[in-house]
Amino acid sequence: MTLNNLNDDWWKQAVVYQIYPRSFKDANGDGLGDIPGITSKMRYLRELGIDAIWLSPFYPSDLADGGYDIIDYRNVDPRLGDMADFDAMVSQAHQEGIKVIVDIVPNHTADRHAWFLEALASGRGSAARDRYIFKEGSGPNGEFPPNDWQSLFGGPAWERVEDGQWYLHIFAKEQPDLNWNNPEVHEEFKKTLRFWSDHGTDGFRVDVAHGLAKKLDGASMKDLSRWTVHDSLSHDGTHPLWDRAQVHDIYREWRQVFNEYDPPRFAVGEAWVVPEHQYLYASPDELGQVFNFEFAIANWFSGDFRTAIRDGLQAAKSSGSTATWVMSNHDVPRHPSRYGLPQAPSKATHQLPKDWVLRDGSSYEENRELGSKRARAAILMEAALPGSVYIYQGEELGLFEVPDIPWDRLEDPTPFRTRGRYTEKGRDGCRVPLPWDSLDTPDPASWNPRFGSGASFGFSPAHDADGARSADPHLPQPLWYRDFSVDVEQRDETSMLSLYKACLSRRAELLTPAQDSSVTWLDEGDDVIAYTRDAAESSAYTTIASITNFGATAITLPEGDLILSSAQLDDRSQLPQDTSVWIGMR
Ligand code: BGC
Repeated sequence: MTLNNLNDDWWKQAVVYQIYPRSFKDANGDGLGDIPGITSKMRYLRELGIDAIWLSPFYPSDLADGGYDIIDYRNVDPRLGDMADFDAMVSQAHQEGIKVIVDIVPNHTADRHAWFLEALASGRGSAARDRYIFKEGSGPNGEFPPNDWQSLFGGPAWERVEDGQWYLHIFAKEQPDLNWNNPEVHEEFKKTLRFWSDHGTDGFRVDVAHGLAKKLDGASMKDLSRWTVHDSLSHDGTHPLWDRAQVHDIYREWRQVFNEYDPPRFAVGEAWVVPEHQYLYASPDELGQVFNFEFAIANWFSGDFRTAIRDGLQAAKSSGSTATWVMSNHDVPRHPSRYGLPQAPSKATHQLPKDWVLRDGSSYEENRELGSKRARAAILMEAALPGSVYIYQGEELGLFEVPDIPWDRLEDPTPFRTRGRYTEKGRDGCRVPLPWDSLDTPDPASWNPRFGSGASFGFSPAHDADGARSADPHLPQPLWYRDFSVDVEQRDETSMLSLYKACLSRRAELLTPAQDSSVTWLDEGDDVIAYTRDAAESSAYTTIASITNFGATAITLPEGDLILSSAQLDDRSQLPQDTSVWIGMR
């Protein structure tokens, strides 16, 4: 067990590994990752050097939105296992010194949730309907939606039910929004938080944390049309959906539940709000931590990263929390691909070249060598920072986005519902099942991205419990996955996996677990990000420097011991472009 994990404040400086359960490891051969699959890889996770795993939703779901449409909040999807499997997974994680964080989705349920079925059956004005946001339509017979809001996944944000009323869904129509003005909703979620805490869960990731406190009564729906659903960065508190002051009452209530436990349960909020508001969610009497997504939307420019680091540390300080760093997750294209594409200054993730995003067998390729080199430099820049580092499954293997999944195999709702449908591929390209074993490689001659071929790079076993051939992975894996398989990378000391392991173990050993949120900047010029931190007292050093050169001209490195380098240095004193080092100073 790492020292950090024995501390109640473990989460303040943690390395958290995000698992997208349906794509991590399939233990029973149905082509879908599951809870026993996670348990079977706990040693791998420990050897990687992480402090905690965060599981995206594994609850019963029809997968209208990758599991973020939950039918039953206090159960496991039977395709992924059962509660006994969950308990066994937590116990195995704890034995390996790994904390467990689960995803809480409070903005909406699935349309097959018992509450929503009851709301449909109970009719207008019923108590069951008041748990959601039902309104009368506009037009002479209420035949038009209450207003013109468009859902974040495309199409109207309102869906009509049989008796003529309409319900609000900010996301897919299978995700009706809950009414947080209803006390029953509050009680239900407190019950869910206690349920998972009683099952040994150490913390929670709160989905769409900024969206719960809606204000839709009073004004007519038509009047509310001056706002749009897409404008979550409105910051003056007047938006009827997002980032309203009242949302903080909910998290103060939840904090009391977290504090019923010893140690108190941890929480991190997903709140896409203006940076100056983010850290309200992170205050110690609310969630305690919040995601900072600036790295996930920054392109490979030193200025973008410098600003992200400065703002992130400052905001963490002002909330009394610690910073968080996220380069990839299940909602954004994998960062080695982003860094290997033509770069435009600042926040261009959503402006990836169209011919690449829509790749359907066309010839455009990202520059993988460059993307990979930069991703290697990026983890050394990120992992020495104070605060928590969130790693998305497969990031440690250096996986690229899979941008050419055939349209008829996609699962994400966004490609089919967004305005001008089929103009984006959505989020499946970063959710393709992981490659564990290169010996289980499909025969290139019979491989077909539409149908698979019976091999899955060890994601599924060869056979299911009845001895039948395992089903193909739920999303097709490309042939190039072979070179990124865990076994290949474990044998190669220059692989991304070897770099991540070395980096995380040096981080644990050398960087002080102090709760501080500051770095000392070194002035190495505009194209360089260089900072130092105090080294752990038990180490041989006083400070550790992390230095990344973005510029075309090599820079001269300071004296000290070369602890890590993202690429082989031909000359120990020179740091070339797109390369990072850690240097220990005595
Ligand atoms: C999750 C997404 C999901 C959405 C709706 C998010 O922000 O990360 O994957 O589609 O919430 O639940």
